[in-house]
Amino acid sequence: MRDVAIIGIGMTEFGELWEKSFRELVAEAGVRAIMDAGIEGEEIDAMYIGGMSSGMFVGQEHVGPLAVEVAGLEDLHIPATRVEGACASGGIALHQGYISVASGMYDIVVVGGAEKMTDVAGGSATNILASASDREWEAFFGATFPGLYALMATYHMHKYGTTPEQLASVAVKNHYNGSTNPKAQFKRKITVEDVLKSPLVADPLHLLDCSPVSDGAAAAILAPVEVAKKYTDKLVRIKASAMACDTLSLHGRERFDALPAAIHAAKKAYEKAGVGPKDIDLAEVHDCFTIAEIIAIEDLGFVERGRGGPATEEGITSLHGEIPVNTSGGLKSKGHPVGATGIAQLNEIVLQLRGEAGERQVKDAQIGLTHNVGGSGGTAVVNIMEVI
Ligand code: COA
Repeated sequence: MRDVAIIGIGMTEFGELWEKSFRELVAEAGVRAIMDAGIEGEEIDAMYIGGMSSGMFVGQEHVGPLAVEVAGLEDLHIPATRVEGACASGGIALHQGYISVASGMYDIVVVGGAEKMTDVAGGSATNILASASDREWEAFFGATFPGLYALMATYHMHKYGTTPEQLASVAVKNHYNGSTNPKAQFKRKITVEDVLKSPLVADPLHLLDCSPVSDGAAAAILAPVEVAKKYTDKLVRIKASAMACDTLSLHGRERFDALPAAIHAAKKAYEKAGVGPKDIDLAEVHDCFTIAEIIAIEDLGFVERGRGGPATEEGITSLHGEIPVNTSGGLKSKGHPVGATGIAQLNEIVLQLRGEAGERQVKDAQIGLTHNVGGSGGTAVVNIMEVI
């Protein structure tokens, strides 16, 4: 296996981008990544594009050739594969791109993700997102994603004493971080009181405990380390990439206070990278709901099981805390165009490891981690990156 580096990153702003089409979002993120890498389009060998449901959101399937065409590479006939794993689609695109470069199959590979979710009405978006749950046994009976995560939150509160204020402190931290990110959907700071006063969506989760419905795209360019040296001296290497799956349904899971797929993916990634949770300088985790970040920091071993709530309240995961989590604003504030999220997480980690994160720069960041989850935990991808 060859060592793999990230030589370019690019993403659109996230938000309600009515003035941009799905195709324009894909093109913008791709062009930004290509320019950042300083490569010619003709050098690209393959593409992996993550997307959850462009067919239902904008009526466009077959995204591989669309990406090839907007990049102007149709004459080269390069292979472009769309990958799908709900909200983990971007993370899976990265995992597949990594495998293809590490194996020696390809040299220069684009990994990306895109979703345009705001062209449909709110109820339709909720229904489309529910297709990432078990349609027959969950969605059909009215379990939406806020509903499924509300069940996890209720269980966590019952078992560990996690409080609504602790859940809210995740949103407060991530909105603070997002206020420093020009690409974020929400750049406004909020308070615990704002979260608790916002409308209940699925008890105990309020509107401000939820990630939003968003449009956006993100991309990155991978190359073997030896080839990467030709393009950049700011080398960021993928130290490990691991993926794991579980039951599609939440009710079929062995436990509700954790995501076993995320625990497995993290274990494999730590083993492969030869590091542990204490070695990680910062992480972008899948905070689709505030409870999801609390469970994520426990699953990743940053804090003891049950300590996610108090640890967040104490500031351990804040920008200048022991382990900064979601410096980009996370899904909560940066936005969550589901297929793009995994690659947007990578964009933030690479920016931080290159020392280019500006106001939200984590000092001396050397090792960063991304944690991307599909559905209620049916799929999880954990990637570990380091400066070399
Ligand atoms: N966080 C912060 N603000 C939000 C928000 C969020 N998640 N969602 C909406 N808003 C803001 C809007 O910008 C708008 O503000 P404005 O009045 O200043 O313009 C206001 O709240 C109302 O927006 P609206 O679009 O009418 O909200 P909604 O009630 O239709 O949707 C949710 C709110 C929480 C239901 C929706 O964002 C949602 O479904 N989120 C979860 C998405 C999801 O499940 N993703 C997959 C995860 S696995």
